[in-house]
Amino acid sequence: MRRIVIFASGAGSNAEKIILHFKNSAFAEISTIFSNKANAGVLEIARKNGIKSIVFGREDLENGAVMEQIKKIEPDLIVLAGFLWKFPSDIIALYPDKIINIHPALLPKYGGKGMYGRYVHEAVLKNKEKETGITIHYVNEHYDEGTYIFQKTVNIEKCNSPEEIAQKVHELEHEYFPLVVEKLITNN
Ligand code: GAR
Repeated sequence: MRRIVIFASGAGSNAEKIILHFKNSAFAEISTIFSNKANAGVLEIARKNGIKSIVFGREDLENGAVMEQIKKIEPDLIVLAGFLWKFPSDIIALYPDKIINIHPALLPKYGGKGMYGRYVHEAVLKNKEKETGITIHYVNEHYDEGTYIFQKTVNIEKCNSPEEIAQKVHELEHEYFPLVVEKLITNN
């Protein structure tokens, strides 16, 4: 069985879609959900689906404690699904081309430090963009700069609020992220 590990900081709607996608898979499983927030919605999703979860603090990420947990799992793929801290370079070095992130915009636009979730959609609206989208990319030491794996665009000319844009983007994420994960885990 191939093992997928998910890191998430928030509601976890993307994590949930990935969990459901692999629920009856004979090929790959979600081994563990890691979260840096003790009250993150993703932890309830993990519990409901019988998936082990680990909550950690910044220190655990920096002193190698999280890395030790990951090593024990021996994951085939590490998926950042709404994980809002910078991923440590020692873990990136250990798993080259096995860590992916989803970003709620068409990188290289609207990426970088501080550009996450609602802030991205607010900036997109402010700039009167006609379209936005999603980018799934490999993770390197720089925020949102790893090689792109997949992008999809959506028209937002009729959207008048960041929430409306967020909804369109979430629809894309939920449709395509599990499929991209499946493709990568199959080819790994
Ligand atoms: C998603 O839209 C994801 O693209 C974004 O956070 C949201 C998490 O939603 N990630 C970033 O902004 C990373 N820079 P979810 O918790 O419902 O999956």
